[in-house]
Amino acid sequence: GGSIAIRGRLLSFDADPRDEELGRAVRYVEDGLVVVEKGLIREVGEASALLKRLRPDMTVVDHRPHLVLPGFIDPHLHMPQTQVIASYGAELMEWLAKYTFPEESRYGDPAVAASASRFLLDELLASGTTTAGVFCTSHPESVEAFFAEAAQRNMRMVAGKVMMDRNGPPALLDTPETGYQQSRDLIRRWHGKGRLSYAITPRFAPTSSEMQLEAAEALASEFPDMHIQTHLSENEAEIAFVREAFPWSKDYTEVYERYGLVREKAMFGHCIHLSVRERAALSAGGATAVFCPTSNLFLGSGLFDREAIREGDIKVGLATDIGGGTSYSMLRTAAEAYKVLALRSQKLPALEAFHMMTAGNAEAMGLDNRIGRIIAGHEADLVVLDSSATPAMRRRMERVETLEEELFALMTLGDERATVATYVFGHRAYERGTPRRPLPAR
Ligand code: GUN
Ligand code: FE
Repeated sequence: GGSIAIRGRLLSFDADPRDEELGRAVRYVEDGLVVVEKGLIREVGEASALLKRLRPDMTVVDHRPHLVLPGFIDPHLHMPQTQVIASYGAELMEWLAKYTFPEESRYGDPAVAASASRFLLDELLASGTTTAGVFCTSHPESVEAFFAEAAQRNMRMVAGKVMMDRNGPPALLDTPETGYQQSRDLIRRWHGKGRLSYAITPRFAPTSSEMQLEAAEALASEFPDMHIQTHLSENEAEIAFVREAFPWSKDYTEVYERYGLVREKAMFGHCIHLSVRERAALSAGGATAVFCPTSNLFLGSGLFDREAIREGDIKVGLATDIGGGTSYSMLRTAAEAYKVLALRSQKLPALEAFHMMTAGNAEAMGLDNRIGRIIAGHEADLVVLDSSATPAMRRRMERVETLEEELFALMTLGDERATVATYVFGHRAYERGTPRRPLPAR
């Protein structure tokens, strides 16, 4: 299984190009072939050359004229928020209390968690996303259900049990001890199993006591290579809350530093209102700032400053943050990122956006040795995209002349409708259905 050859317009990016050199880091093959054996990319190149010496039993799937890219990577989203998405009229702290915490309280029920995980993973695959950094709830059952569903699909997933022991409803709160022990048990059961890995997941400083942050620190030092995921500096009221709850700390970031949580493979959602000192701390620690544009707009949180983050030499990811975020599609997410940055008079060229969604997010998650590029030895997670998926896209494409123009229109106008197929470890995990019937004329 997992042996297949995929033909199409291949687009991939070299690792870590300086932005001004991104043009030269683009690997584009107009008529290319990806040869996959046992789930791994074996060879990549011109179809004309590779087809001649292909093993005769190899199935060739011809996706021309569509684009073939590395599967999209979404470094920050919440599994239990598929029914929180599009909740009306609140900023972060009220949104959590009014909508999110009550909804997450249901996730101690394994059936609730299993059906949400199933829905989420199907929706991600339909959007071309093959890897994500996932917050479950504080109930170990929610993590158990999520990993079980991800394992069935053989997807590379990073997920964890939310640790939160204060400032939430009783049904959601753990304790320093149970937070530690349940995380520990889940790590033993799931970390490194197949393509799954565990992330130490304190929700954010306002919902953890100092004792619980010490427990997170203990986990982090027992597992120095493990992912850490949390939220940082998303909203002004949240920042004020942290200032009161941790009076000894000069800023929000220092709370996480104090407990050894600012390090490589630590992913901090949002990072909107950081000071120069906080950016320097994230950079020194080798941590990642994750830009969540649809969420930041929807919750009115603020405008991510990509230029400051880059000038501060901080790794950056781009994510949906479902369900503060409003779309499962990384294309839609990139389009909103462009608009957020436009309000800051910053630019997001299409090549940089597609780099972020693939190789960039792989680096941001510390997974760039396995996913994010179409190169020999990498895992064969691929998305096939149709840049003329809708009438509006098709019409725009008539006047597009360059690959960059095509990609910019694809991200600006596209969404899950552009996904033709999604491959996970060489297996087709999603295939676009028969086209929707045109709406009747009115
Ligand atoms: N901060 C703490 N929890 C959350 C959450 O669930 N979503 C968002 N957007 N921010 C958070
Ligand atoms: Fe989040």
